[in-house]
Amino acid sequence: MEYISSFIEFGEADHKKMLKSKDLLLPFLDVITDVVYSRMFAYDVTKVNFTHQQDGYKGQIERDINNLKSDDSVIQFRKMMLHKYLRRIVSTEWNIGLIKYLNWTGEIHSNTMLKKSSNDVEYIHLNAMIGFISTSILDIVAHASEGVWDEEMRNEAMVAFSKFFWVQNDFISKSHTTKYDDYDPAENSKALTRLEGETVNKYLKRDSLALSIGGAFASFGIGVFLTTAIISFFD
Ligand code: HEM
Repeated sequence: MEYISSFIEFGEADHKKMLKSKDLLLPFLDVITDVVYSRMFAYDVTKVNFTHQQDGYKGQIERDINNLKSDDSVIQFRKMMLHKYLRRIVSTEWNIGLIKYLNWTGEIHSNTMLKKSSNDVEYIHLNAMIGFISTSILDIVAHASEGVWDEEMRNEAMVAFSKFFWVQNDFISKSHTTKYDDYDPAENSKALTRLEGETVNKYLKRDSLALSIGGAFASFGIGVFLTTAIISFFD
C-alpha cells in the first residue's frame, strides 16, 4: 500500500476530496449496490461464490446455484456489507482504522488464515468488479456534480476516486498473489508457481493423450506448438 500510494501520489488530501462527494453519493448507494449484485447474478462464475458459507452470516445458505435468488437473506446480507463499505469510504476520516478495513476487504475475498470461512473469490472477478464499481462512481460524480461543483472540484474528486480504487485493488491483489500455502521465500520468482506448473502438466498430459490417439507425426507438431505457446505465456 505504501508503495502504490507513493507511486500514484495518493494520500489524505485525495481522500478529503472523496469525502466532499459524500452528499452527492449517499443517495445513490442503494442503486449501486443493487446494480452490483445484478451484475454478480448475470454470470454463474460470480453467482456461485454466494453458495458457500460466509464470515459473520448465521442464516441458511442455498447450495444450489439455480435456486439462489437475488432477494435471499444471504444476498441481502452481502448487499448490506457492500453498502456499508461504500458509505464508509466516503464518510470516514483517513485513519489507521480505515486502512485496516481496506486491507480486510482484500483478505475477506481470499482464503487466508485470518478468516473463518474458506471462500476464495478468484482475483479475475474482483478486478472486474473494482472496474465496475469505480466507473459507476466516477460516472455518478461526473453527472451529479454538474451545476453544483466547478470543473476543478469535479476533476480533483474524480482523480482522487480513481487513485483510491487502485489502492483498494492493491490490497485485494496482495491477498491473492501471496497464498500462505503457496508461499516459499526460497522460491525463484521467475520459476513457475505450483499452480502454473500444474497447468503446464495438464496441457502436456492432454498432448500425450493426443499422441497416442492421433499419431506421432501430427501430435509432435501440436506438442511443439503447445509447449512453445505455454513457455512464452509464462515467460
Ligand atoms: C471488488 C469489489 C468488491 C468490494 C469492494 C467488496 C466488498 C466486500 C465487503 C466489504 C465484504 C464484507 C467484509 C466484512 O465482512 O467486513 C465482502 C465480502 C464478500 N464478498 Fe465482496 N466485494 C467486492 C467484490 C466481490 C466479488 C466480485 C465477489 C464474488 C464474485 C464478492 C463476494 C463476496 C463474498 C462471497 C463475501 C463473503 C466472504 C466470506 O465471508 O468468506 N465480492 N465483500
